[in-house]
Amino acid sequence: MPSLPLLPPVFTLLADLIERHSGIHYGLGDRELLEDKVSIRALEAGFDSLFDYYLFLRHDPKGPAALDTLIEGLVVHETYFFRDALALEVLADDVALAVRAGRRPRLWCAACSTGEEPLTLAMMLHERGVLDGVYLLASDISQRALDRARRGEHNLRSLRALPPGVEGRYMDVVDGKPHVRSDLLASVTWRRVNLTDAATIAELGTFDAVLCRNVLIYFQDDTARRVTELLTGALVPGGHLLVGTSESLLRFGTALECEERRGVFFYTRPKEGA
Ligand SMILES: C[S@@+](CC[C@H](N)C(=O)[O-])C[C@H]1O[C@@H](n2cnc3c(N)ncnc32)[C@H](O)[C@@H]1O
Repeated sequence: MPSLPLLPPVFTLLADLIERHSGIHYGLGDRELLEDKVSIRALEAGFDSLFDYYLFLRHDPKGPAALDTLIEGLVVHETYFFRDALALEVLADDVALAVRAGRRPRLWCAACSTGEEPLTLAMMLHERGVLDGVYLLASDISQRALDRARRGEHNLRSLRALPPGVEGRYMDVVDGKPHVRSDLLASVTWRRVNLTDAATIAELGTFDAVLCRNVLIYFQDDTARRVTELLTGALVPGGHLLVGTSESLLRFGTALECEERRGVFFYTRPKEGA
């Protein structure tokens, strides 16, 4: 399908709209990429000008739903089971101690894509005999990714770091498709949450740990800082925020304390009076 021309002023308008709605940043160097992706949606919706399509997104009553669909096509869902697994192991050990001490920890995977990350954590908690003792929320901005997560639909690439013993115990591979055990899928509460939406995040309550891995990289610093503040507000005192291995919060001057545990960085909300 040929692309519609995305002139610099319209690029700026569209990139700004997308960033305000999702946090995802497109710089001038991404103009061709955005042109291709937006053209597909604009042509599907019957537009032959990207400026007219922008006006539709911005002002038509159907614009917000169309913007969600556009963003569905822009987000990167790259994820796999047991990705950077050590961080999840260290967290699972912590959580197991809390459950055995009689607490019910609340955990949130805040950009879970198609669910491989929360399902990996669920497997680790099950291994430790404490899965029933936690509340595990998994969310993403993408409804399509969440629908796949809920149905346990994963592709073979998501198995590339799978340790021995998981297949057969927690999932089966049938006709080249992995199928996660239904009780594991049911142990996770799936919900659509946009990380830039303060009101929705405030409704979720507070958590002992929030995972927000491999998503802040798509945001500019001021958005990443704002999202970090919202997630900090969603932590109980002493609760932890975990980000991806290539993401550091230290350059934002975060209110969280950084501690290294077994080679994994935990950002911890200070306890009151500490
Ligand atoms: C690369 S995946 C990371 C998945 C998983 N956390 C991991 O580390 O494997 C990034 C995810 O962030 C989601 N995302 C992007 N912007 C978001 C936003 N504003 N709110 C919530 N999720 C967002 C995307 O839909 C995508 O599923």
